[in-house]
Amino acid sequence: MRIRSVEFSNFRNYKSLKAEFGEGINLLYGDNAQGKTNILEGIYICSTSRSHRRSSDRELILFGEKEAHIRLILEKKNDLHKIDIHYRKDNKKGIAIDGIPVRKASEMFGFLNVVMFAPEDLALVKSGPAERRRFLDREICQTDPFYMDDLMNYNRVLEQRNKLLKDIVRDSSLKDTLDVWDEQLVRYGCRILKVREKYLKETEKTCSEIHSFMTSGEEEIKLSYEKNTNEAEFKENLEKSRERDLYTMTTNRGPHRDDFSITANGIDLRTYGSQGQQRSAAVSLKLSEIGIIKEKTGEMPVLLLDDVFSEMDQRRQEGLLKEISGIQTIITGTGIDEMTRNNAIIGKKFYIKQGTALEEE
Ligand SMILES: Nc1ncnc2c1ncn2[C@@H]1O[C@H](COP(=O)(O)OP(=O)(O)O)[C@@H](O)[C@H]1O
Ligand SMILES: [Mg+2]
Repeated sequence: MRIRSVEFSNFRNYKSLKAEFGEGINLLYGDNAQGKTNILEGIYICSTSRSHRRSSDRELILFGEKEAHIRLILEKKNDLHKIDIHYRKDNKKGIAIDGIPVRKASEMFGFLNVVMFAPEDLALVKSGPAERRRFLDREICQTDPFYMDDLMNYNRVLEQRNKLLKDIVRDSSLKDTLDVWDEQLVRYGCRILKVREKYLKETEKTCSEIHSFMTSGEEEIKLSYEKNTNEAEFKENLEKSRERDLYTMTTNRGPHRDDFSITANGIDLRTYGSQGQQRSAAVSLKLSEIGIIKEKTGEMPVLLLDDVFSEMDQRRQEGLLKEISGIQTIITGTGIDEMTRNNAIIGKKFYIKQGTALEEE
């Protein structure tokens, strides 16, 4: 798929914007705080309904305005499609695809597929397990609606079980009802585990290929799923930890406590990676989604790269640019130099200054 154009009105620091993108690399360049990331953010929202910066809807409306609009034109299998997002200060946002209102965010999943790398994604390698679970869950949900159902059910059951653990303090007769929740937790949990493990295996294959390419074969990446409990023993482990659960008033066993390790040449990057290594591992992880989305949907996603070059050595930068050739990419940077130095072929370039985008020849 390919993004043809994006229009903003009163979105972030754009009073009005219209940008038409081309194939290959589209560069957004300019000084800090001019609005480069805001453009990527607007596009990302058209894919997931939410800001990658986890900003609230209100924050997206231009200061002092009451409403904001995003419109994106997308080309998919030779057809054009339109995504409209309408923000109102005192109301919920409205989303429409080809003029038809979207009621639930989940309905828009998979319509516009983007793979984004933003500075925040460094957390994928660096931060705690929650970030890595979020990554897996988000990626799998993009192409697997059954997984999304299981995950929602699991989280609902988990929440209810945790609430019950707190209620039991006041009323111990409630203890008996725990079994019912345990059973459901195991049912949904086992499915989640299975899908995540399989997905991580696929990701490892593509991720390690990409990473090896980007580092000219110098770093070998391995991903390994770390489960809090395996499927066969989940039920038993829940029973075993019941006393502890009652004491801590939370559920201590289950896939909501899982993680995965990321190693380069045997070194755990979560704790021992340099900033540059962590960044390129996070990029490789993100790029591996491209192939997986292509395989599952038959369509190439659009790549959004925000500030990806900082702290990457030139070899990694070159490797990255080679890796993304042929994929529509919208990339931000402070200047053109970092692109030309790497002999990148820039399709279109836009100079971003104070909420305006000037297309340059
Ligand atoms: N709702 C808003 N209304 C007006 N300006 C905003 C709003 N939200 C963010 N901004 C401004 O957008 C700018 C940051 O844009 P951003 O795209 O992150 O910059 P960069 O070019 O560095 O990527 C800041 O100047 C910030 O004040
Ligand atoms: Mg930025």
